[in-house]
Amino acid sequence: MGIRVRKDNRVFSLDGKNSSYLLCIDKQGHLLHLYWGGRISNLEDFDLPFVKGISTFEAKEDIMAEEFTPWGQLRFKEPSLKAGFLDGTRDLDLVFDGYREEGEVLSISLTDSFYQVKIQIVYQVFAEFDVIKRYVILNNLDDHEIRIQSFYSGEWNFLGSDFYFTNVQGTWANEGNRFRQKILPGKNVIESRRGITAHNHSPYFMLDRDAKEHSGEVYFGILAHSGNFKLTIEQKPYDQTRLLLGMNGFDTEISVSPEASFETPPVYFGYTVAGFNGASNSLNQLGLHLLPEKHRETVRPVLYNSWEAARFNVTCDNQAVLAEKAAQLGVELFVVDDGWFKNRNNSSAGLGDWYPDESKFPEGLDPLIKKVKSLDMKFGLWLEPEMVNPDSYLYRMHPDWVYGFENRKHSLSRKQLILNITKQEVRNYLFFVIDQLLTKHDISFIKWDMNRPFSEPGALNLPKENQQEIWMLHNRHVLALIKELRDKHPHVLWEGCASGGGRVNFEALQYFDQFWPSDNTDALDRLSIQHGYSLAYPIKTMVSWVTDSPNMYTKREIPLKFRCHAAMMGAMGIGCNLNKLTAEDSEILSQNIAFYKKVRTIIQEGCFYRLSSITESGYHAVQYTKDQRSVIFAFKRGVSRHKKNFQLKLKGFKPETRYCISLQGKVAAIKSGDYLMNAGISLHLEGEYDSCVFEIFPKMGELYKNKKSKINLF
Ligand code: DGJ
Repeated sequence: MGIRVRKDNRVFSLDGKNSSYLLCIDKQGHLLHLYWGGRISNLEDFDLPFVKGISTFEAKEDIMAEEFTPWGQLRFKEPSLKAGFLDGTRDLDLVFDGYREEGEVLSISLTDSFYQVKIQIVYQVFAEFDVIKRYVILNNLDDHEIRIQSFYSGEWNFLGSDFYFTNVQGTWANEGNRFRQKILPGKNVIESRRGITAHNHSPYFMLDRDAKEHSGEVYFGILAHSGNFKLTIEQKPYDQTRLLLGMNGFDTEISVSPEASFETPPVYFGYTVAGFNGASNSLNQLGLHLLPEKHRETVRPVLYNSWEAARFNVTCDNQAVLAEKAAQLGVELFVVDDGWFKNRNNSSAGLGDWYPDESKFPEGLDPLIKKVKSLDMKFGLWLEPEMVNPDSYLYRMHPDWVYGFENRKHSLSRKQLILNITKQEVRNYLFFVIDQLLTKHDISFIKWDMNRPFSEPGALNLPKENQQEIWMLHNRHVLALIKELRDKHPHVLWEGCASGGGRVNFEALQYFDQFWPSDNTDALDRLSIQHGYSLAYPIKTMVSWVTDSPNMYTKREIPLKFRCHAAMMGAMGIGCNLNKLTAEDSEILSQNIAFYKKVRTIIQEGCFYRLSSITESGYHAVQYTKDQRSVIFAFKRGVSRHKKNFQLKLKGFKPETRYCISLQGKVAAIKSGDYLMNAGISLHLEGEYDSCVFEIFPKMGELYKNKKSKINLF
């Protein structure tokens, strides 16, 4: 595992537990892709590729499988890098210029044949996850600036034209709809131009020929960048499929001054023969490893959030009443969402003025915080720091603090504008107000929201020639601000949100401890949204609330048990109007919260199996397994009365071990692992929206009964 270099210094292998990724230097000094797939033992078996052009219109440069394609000479394929020099030359001619190997890191250098520009492609092997990290650095050693027009982080080459691409598609409140589509000749692109990842697609790929959920070869890669992204898949006429993933070059031009350098965000990529679910588990585990260190090992708390119950009408008194009820149910963290700050009675005013509204909180936030703490819960608060309403004190004082063009009106969206955080005074203000809130009050949790896409992306403080850097700069400043706040207030847990799942990605994952995946809290819709989320992102970060029925958005009525089970599939939360709960509802909620707390380490950190999907079969089932203990959820929506029984084949058991199946704390059956996996268990779900949850643990594992696992709550 790690890095191997062939004796001739021309072939490099990056090895995971079960996979190898090979690159080579050809006789002309081109850095070429050689192989990606199952583990290779002998590097001598590979011949260096010898590529010839086909015609004057199909030159060698366009055909060879480059690890890093510059735009230059007879290349017409999508390049990894397109850049220009001050003298007007817009052509890069890169050749191999050496390599460095240090532990698990391989860095390969390419240099331009004339200009003093050096490209370093850095690979780091994460062998335990069978994943490789890659990023690229451009070093400008010239006396003049270089202007970058597009710069992808990752480039992959595949032989063949028979691939399928998997990702998600969606919109606000309808995120995460999984799709798999045949790659057609020409270019297939998914991207975001909205300033953040947005709700439409996610910056990753899964590529396969004929993989299934639990078997078959899947190549996958994910970008760790929270701004605009672009994924281009190019099927070439030479029986080749190419894939490039990185920051979106649209409306972007980055200047690199002499002696300066530019580093792309990283991509993480891997290969599995365990199908799509195998790829998800690698990403899930890698994601857990990348989470901010402070709360990485702690379990996520059961939270209450006020949004659906109170909307903007939060007051000290009404929240205190809810807090008492939440505490009785077993909630651990009480979060006041939107509506608590100055003049915030609807979405048209208040953003930017981050101090409590006196009419709602006459003595400030402290009396409510005190009450929440006295109930043995932690206190959390909602903020949307990047935004301002024109109807706010902040905007009236600083109308020039927002993005815009001089001769254009601002397009409002949700009646708000985006603060120009590239201005030092804006960044200072945001640090100051949030730092004050966290210093003066006992706040343990911040939900950081972002509720509109960009428009008129002008930053009048930046020179004309740097205007097109704002997409990148906004993202950098926001994340740097969060880091600064995290460093000063390490105890705080941070939730990322952008009108639901608009900011879920592998970069944000290194700054936020959890995400709000969607504003759609309808438990049935949630099953497919969560299914989509689980393709690439850790279950531990997937917050889900039990909300009222009929649902606020869809008006659908769903029984409370089903709603609880759907919310227990990630980091559980409650968003109901607790004043409306009957005694029976409260009992169901408390019991489910208590059960969730018992098994949440398995759910949040275990291996995750998508057993059946509601969109395909009418049944939905997932399994979580950690240290041989499993939790399984199954759901059904109105299928025919003749199909009450549902045969569920489980995963990941030891064939000859005997396991107890436990329902509501009682052992209902004892079965062998091979029975559970091959024959499967028969579930009897009846009526519209029935659901169940059960545990499975080794029979010999009576030990589990007595062993109290230690849980660290944040
Ligand atoms: C959008 C979020 O996704 C919701 O959960 C809620 O926080 C609202 N914003 C508040 O304005």
